[in-house]
Amino acid sequence: MTTHTDKGPKPLGGKFLHFDHLKFWVGNAKQAASYYCARLGFEPLAYRGLETGSRHVASHVVKQNQIIFVFESAYEPNNEEMASHLSQHGDGVRDIAFNVQDIGIIVKIAKERGATIVKDIWEESDVYGTVKFATIRTYGDTYHTLIDRSKYKGFFLPGFEILSEDPFSKTLPKVGLNFIDHIVGNQPDKQMEPVAKWYEQCLQFHRFWSVDDTQLHTEYSALRSIVMTNWEETVKMPVNEPASGKKRSQIQEYVEYYGGAGVQHIALNTNNIITAIQNLRARGVEFLHVPDTYYDMLRSRLKNNGIKILEDINILQKLKILIDYDENGYLLQIFTKNMQDRPTLFIEVIQRHNHNGFGAGNFQALFEAIEMEQAKRGNL
Ligand SMILES: [Fe+2]
Repeated sequence: MTTHTDKGPKPLGGKFLHFDHLKFWVGNAKQAASYYCARLGFEPLAYRGLETGSRHVASHVVKQNQIIFVFESAYEPNNEEMASHLSQHGDGVRDIAFNVQDIGIIVKIAKERGATIVKDIWEESDVYGTVKFATIRTYGDTYHTLIDRSKYKGFFLPGFEILSEDPFSKTLPKVGLNFIDHIVGNQPDKQMEPVAKWYEQCLQFHRFWSVDDTQLHTEYSALRSIVMTNWEETVKMPVNEPASGKKRSQIQEYVEYYGGAGVQHIALNTNNIITAIQNLRARGVEFLHVPDTYYDMLRSRLKNNGIKILEDINILQKLKILIDYDENGYLLQIFTKNMQDRPTLFIEVIQRHNHNGFGAGNFQALFEAIEMEQAKRGNL
């Protein structure tokens, strides 16, 4: 793997602050939002629908600390745009929204450099102030909405009503996921490099980290990945593509079931992964199985390298949490099974101890675990 230190030219203006929210287009937004609350520990935040004057689309917004997910469904028959998205991709991420400063400059530069503008700058207001938006297209049918909230003080966005706490959540253990660490986009073969270039040119992002298939492969599958980030490195967007192996790569399986490029996983950062995973498991979230041999190998590697892990490895093993490390620090991570029937989107939970990688050392173990699941689905 390669850590890139050259950030390239300083952006000409504007600033990406952090992920604002993720918007999912799903078959039944009301039920999807409830699943993320019950299983993953989100709380209802806001709603927009018929009762608030939204005649065509229902939006259910859920929140956990700084993480905001919006689930949307169409009310009416023959909503071509949403119906064809659903038919093509199944439930999935439609829009990765960024909170930005100086939206005008960001959009102007993106436009000049050839970005597809889905909707040019517009404003929405309510009693809490005014928000500026613009939407551009990234890979596949995925969008980026840029949001400038500098003149807004509301709980979410104009047009939404606030929701009260779900009574059910009081009875469930708190999870403690804090913010979006990174969002991974899978691409069809040979599309990773053009997508990485798009982020460099249109959004003035730079390469943060990368790995290729000579470094990352199992007997069956391999992948290449480039992590794109903004100047301040507050937004991390790994971009993957399949590499050829003996059998169908997991990236290829994703692309076939999603019907093209799209968001493969969302990594959510916590400062206590043991509690988070104990409580997610108590809520019925299923995670990828990791063979005990992984922990046997890990114990001897850690010992040989003199690496100290603060957490109890027996507990990490029991919970199937993975560890990746270098001489300066380590990260703990774990991957859920798919969030919907299609083998497309899943969630990662990650805790970092002075380590900015993405778990390349675990790809091998992870590939093997994913391939076991893939084989069960008859797709290997
Ligand atoms: Fe990840």
